Amino acid sequence: MTAKIIDGKLFAESLRGRIAGHVERLQREHGITPGLAVIIVGEDPASQVYVSNKAKQTAEVGMNSYKHELPADIQEAELLALIRQLNADLQVHGILVQLPLPRHIDPNKVIEAIDPAKDVDCFTPANVGKVQIGLPGPVSCTPLGCLMLLRDQLGSLEGKSAVIVGRSNLVGKPMMQLLLRDNCTVTVAHSRTRDLAAVVRQADIVVAAVGRPQMIKGDWIKPGAVVIDVGINRVPAPERGEGKTRLVGDVDTAAAAAIAAAITPVPGGVGPMTIACLLANTITTASLINGLAPPDDLTA
Ligand code: GUN
Repeated sequence: MTAKIIDGKLFAESLRGRIAGHVERLQREHGITPGLAVIIVGEDPASQVYVSNKAKQTAEVGMNSYKHELPADIQEAELLALIRQLNADLQVHGILVQLPLPRHIDPNKVIEAIDPAKDVDCFTPANVGKVQIGLPGPVSCTPLGCLMLLRDQLGSLEGKSAVIVGRSNLVGKPMMQLLLRDNCTVTVAHSRTRDLAAVVRQADIVVAAVGRPQMIKGDWIKPGAVVIDVGINRVPAPERGEGKTRLVGDVDTAAAAAIAAAITPVPGGVGPMTIACLLANTITTASLINGLAPPDDLTA
């Protein structure tokens, strides 16, 4: 079998089109323009690229974008004061603090300062709990993106055996909740799992989020499985010239594609879905803050 390559870039583009439609409807019917505030502390180049892309795409779907760039040596108290100000700002429906933060700032304290009603990353304990028990609210962006791609590929996920490799708070754990809610039988494996290859071989659905380049081999994949590769790892690429690098996922894509039914590429798979789902969450929070039901097509 040669796998279908799942085009996350195209899917994200179409999702952003639907989001723009919801922005237009919120403005027309309710006079609400959703607003997303993004805070970046310091000058980490990768974070700067992410934040610029977030701000650009926020504006492109018709939302208000508020970017706050703070120096790396800012005091924690000052950052917390800005978050309190944004919590109180009626024009702001979503707040995102780009991680990682400088070492002198406690990320847990920062996350807990965000009003859960505006927590579009779904990082606050209140929202993590809501996802677990199925209450409406924002859903972790990357897992939501993976879920949308899986539903698009498979229709119903009911009864499927899903193996998640990776147990992070950012991806593995929320992914487990979402797949359980869709009636999968879920196994969460990780780098210390015994005979990981045999565990992955059981899976109709593999979500690879372990952060190790090409760790999941082609012959670990069950024939006909759907493989979602969350990994983004930069590795040396001497074939491209001295000092050059390239991006690879957590799966050996070429080998897995010979066996799977469908697989996400890296780049161009899950990556583009994450920002689109951040915008989807901003529609969800803007709706809930204003006492409106969030749109069904933008959430889990
Ligand atoms: N840094 C890398 N990914 C993310 C993300 O999804 N949210 C935030 N806030 N920071 C990040």
